[in-house]
Amino acid sequence: MRRPLLPLLLASALAASTTARAETPMSYMHTFGPAGDPVTQLNWGLTAISVAVTVIIGALVLLAALRKRPPPQLDAQGRLPLGRGRGGMSWIYVGIAVTVLVLFGTTIWNVLVLSAVSKPPQQPALTVEVTAHQWWWEVSYPSDSPSQTVTTANEIHIPVGEPVLFKLKSADVIHSFWIPKLGGKTDLIPGRINRAWLQADQAGRYRGQCGEYCGAQHAHMALYVVAEAPERFAAWRDAQLAAARSAASAHDLAAHGSEVFVQHCGVCHTVRGIEAHGRLGPDLTHLMSRATIAAGQLDNNRGNLYGWIAGPQRLKPGTRMPRVLLDPQELRDVVAYLETLK
Ligand code: CUA
Repeated sequence: MRRPLLPLLLASALAASTTARAETPMSYMHTFGPAGDPVTQLNWGLTAISVAVTVIIGALVLLAALRKRPPPQLDAQGRLPLGRGRGGMSWIYVGIAVTVLVLFGTTIWNVLVLSAVSKPPQQPALTVEVTAHQWWWEVSYPSDSPSQTVTTANEIHIPVGEPVLFKLKSADVIHSFWIPKLGGKTDLIPGRINRAWLQADQAGRYRGQCGEYCGAQHAHMALYVVAEAPERFAAWRDAQLAAARSAASAHDLAAHGSEVFVQHCGVCHTVRGIEAHGRLGPDLTHLMSRATIAAGQLDNNRGNLYGWIAGPQRLKPGTRMPRVLLDPQELRDVVAYLETLK
């Protein structure tokens, strides 16, 4: 029995494209929310139109080149007579009319898309403040009461299915906030607050990336948006509001590690609950709740914490994080302490 080849080919191409999509965390060709979907449809639509124009024009040029013409009729003196042949002008008019119609249509489509993504479908209930630093993201969930304000870094949790307002600031140079699967870019500019909104219609982890060259480690300035069910988001927020657990209750290494931390790291980092109130680096109160360190560059695990603290300039040359001179035991204890910051 002969197998139908075309459906098989189509099915395998579709499977391959779905797999490829899952493996491209930064794809803007497939979006998951109303801030990105209209742009994606426009993107695919314009691509289809461009391909159609190229194919049609290519075919017409080929047709004209291959068309057989009758041999020219020479006059009595053997010369080629000059004169206007049968007019091809109607083709020109038709071509111009079609072009104008298509361009006019896509202009209107563009304006409609701009209008659709300019504001969210409903008033956002949640506001997230994002401050870009060279080279990491400070994330805070402001509240009227300071005790209800959550501060974290490089990982933004949002409830799924509702729009979230982002207030975007920069602490140094111009950066750009970009979560390709959720929406377009918005710059973060020193001295001003830009606003953007995003909505994730599907729960998941969406990778983002600084979209504006901001210095040597621009490429290592990633962030994640974690969209989760509203109850899970509320639970995450409650957990983030709590102060760090007392290290003394953990074990001796961690208790010593917390002293080392206050002495060597507290100038730059905050851990709520101990004498560490620095604001230069990320808030580490719930460090272990985050999947990565160094703005998405390294997985957050014991080995990478060792490596990062022992040699930040080796892993991320130019980072503001200096190498702190710790002896091996201090290093071990600090990492043990950090691992209690759940
Ligand atoms: Cu920040 Cu590029």
